[in-house]
Amino acid sequence: MKVLVTGASGNGGQAVCRELLRAGHQVRMADVMPSHAADLAEAEFVRCDTRTVTDVRQAVQGMDGVIHLAAWHCAHQPPVSDDTIFAVNVDGTYNVLEACRQEGIRSIVYASSMAYGWWSVYGVSKVIGEDLCRTYHEMTGASIAMLRYHEFIPRPYLEFGERLLRNGVDRRDVATATVQALEAAGKQSFGLFRTIVHTDHGMPEHVRADFAGLGLGWCEEQVPGSAALLAKYGIELPKEVEQHDLSEAKRVLGWEPRTGFVDFLRDLKRRDEEGLDIHALIVPSELPRTQLLL
Ligand SMILES: NC(=O)c1ccc[n+]([C@@H]2O[C@H](COP(=O)([O-])OP(=O)(O)OC[C@H]3O[C@@H](n4cnc5c(N)ncnc54)[C@H](O)[C@@H]3O)[C@@H](O)[C@H]2O)c1
Repeated sequence: MKVLVTGASGNGGQAVCRELLRAGHQVRMADVMPSHAADLAEAEFVRCDTRTVTDVRQAVQGMDGVIHLAAWHCAHQPPVSDDTIFAVNVDGTYNVLEACRQEGIRSIVYASSMAYGWWSVYGVSKVIGEDLCRTYHEMTGASIAMLRYHEFIPRPYLEFGERLLRNGVDRRDVATATVQALEAAGKQSFGLFRTIVHTDHGMPEHVRADFAGLGLGWCEEQVPGSAALLAKYGIELPKEVEQHDLSEAKRVLGWEPRTGFVDFLRDLKRRDEEGLDIHALIVPSELPRTQLLL
């Protein structure tokens, strides 16, 4: 498919574009600033501010599908103002959906969030975004997937690992879910579809629910030496592990997350054995792909 990705230069956008190229799609990246990632050089880049109707209209022209990621969230430092968050996330989403209607685009993925509806202008912008998707689906019959991503903000390595047991997800899982949702929309596998994008550690329910009591033993069984590693690096285990039912995403999109806490433990063990310093590492890493984490 020829696919437009808005917000393509961002953290999620780059991973999504990479996954699209890997899956053989043609990619047009749209953002207010270009990406400097060398492995995305073959993708076309268009400068596009989603608040500007003509930018968006030109960007979607000639596309088969649109992945709409462009948004500001609450994690930027210094912070983005609520006015800008609202304008980009709400007006921008309206402009993208309206341009899709005018150009007859039938396959759309919208980046929603687990922060949906929560206490912030950002949270409400995702409520309005999903409402706009529903309305445009009703008006046009386009297949639209609304993906409620968990958190994939870049973090220090150890924090990233800890977060996988809570509300964290690897951005490569975000990318595969997004691309598989677009491909399923292209096959009209659904009309309007909404799902959660999170990680899955494959642990039994009784372990998940009593991780404080059973977690250490379970980790040790999965990756021998884990208990010592967790103590050495001061990794705190939660009382219980956050886990959602991801079976609908598997059934409808054929998607399953690939990176869980066990993968992190294996990676940590390897780095520890090789004497590598993990304290300066950030996930996702900007290291060359061969040295990428996990
Ligand atoms: N990062 C997370 O943890 C998380 C969690 C849930 C949902 N999401 C959603 O996923 C999407 C991607 O998030 P991310 O973390 O990759 O964001 P990011 O901040 O890394 O990237 C956002 C990109 O959007 C671009 N952008 C901003 N304003 C724009 C405009 N007016 N026109 C065009 N481009 C514009 C920015 O230049 C940036 O490249 C967003 O919709 C976000 O709300 C993210």
